[in-house]
Amino acid sequence: MPTPSSAPRGVVAPGRLFVDQHGSVAQLHGVGVQHLDGLFYAWGEDKAHGQTFAGVACYSSPDLATWTFRGHALAVDPAVPDLAPGRVIERPKVLRHPDGRHVMFLHVDSPDYADARVGWAVADRPEGPYTYLRSERPLGHASRDIGVFADADGTGYLLSEDRENGLHVYRLTPDYLGVEEIVSTTLTPPSDHPAGPHGYESPAMIEHDGRYYLFGSELTGWATNDNKVAWAPSPAGPWSDWADVAPPGSATYDSQTSTVVTVRGTEATTHVYVGDRWDPDDLAHSAPVWLPVRVADGAATIEWLDAWTIDPVTGLVADAEVTA
Ligand code: DGJ
Repeated sequence: MPTPSSAPRGVVAPGRLFVDQHGSVAQLHGVGVQHLDGLFYAWGEDKAHGQTFAGVACYSSPDLATWTFRGHALAVDPAVPDLAPGRVIERPKVLRHPDGRHVMFLHVDSPDYADARVGWAVADRPEGPYTYLRSERPLGHASRDIGVFADADGTGYLLSEDRENGLHVYRLTPDYLGVEEIVSTTLTPPSDHPAGPHGYESPAMIEHDGRYYLFGSELTGWATNDNKVAWAPSPAGPWSDWADVAPPGSATYDSQTSTVVTVRGTEATTHVYVGDRWDPDDLAHSAPVWLPVRVADGAATIEWLDAWTIDPVTGLVADAEVTA
């Protein structure tokens, strides 16, 4: 795959790389994003070492398009078995707890993905450095791809792929440092997976007008597929049938869901689909595919834009121009 070109700073150009203030490719892979104190913070997999752990890179941005590298929020640590060189750490996601602490959730694994655990780290500041706490199999279940969601009342949820049983939504403990119980579990349509239970991966959740939307992708490794979305009146379900996020056959514009960011502006609440176009031969140059989500009446869809910007105050999206 040819290395994708970079977008000019300040513009989101799906399929093109973001560069940071030093001109380096932003390692915004498998990323988690939060809007905190007027800045967007993003925690991404640093893919400098390919598949294995090279650190969780933290960036900040005023506009989701101009990214400043803030250092490694969580570094490789030979003294901590989960964070040692050669381990796999994916899909870092952060929630700010109502008490002000930042809690980082991680997919913690071995290179053959047999460990299948979720890990926790905490920090006082969004950029860290984070203190690693521990990992576990939540309630004894395998956990690979994860997402997180905090409801308006502060209740936190962990979304976790467990192919033997389905995609789980766990309610977190009040301090966010553990899981309390599974509130819902969804499966891919059995016709798509006759061999048995199997749920979507790369999960993400948003709330819009009292409805909860759950995004996920088929389990096709680094290859992309038509990602799906379902909705429910609460994170506990009941979940609707799955629908396509993007035009069927486009493989979600050749991308996989990483997260969906909500920008609650003065004129619009805009949700932004944040996806990865993985290049298994050069993971560090996997391109971001980020697009506004149209949410209405139980449907959440994305349409291609060559380049765009978002006003973080109003929440309004505008087309932008980029040269080839
Ligand atoms: C699919 C997952 O969504 C990615 O995060 C990554 O773990 C790849 N599988 C590895 O094959």
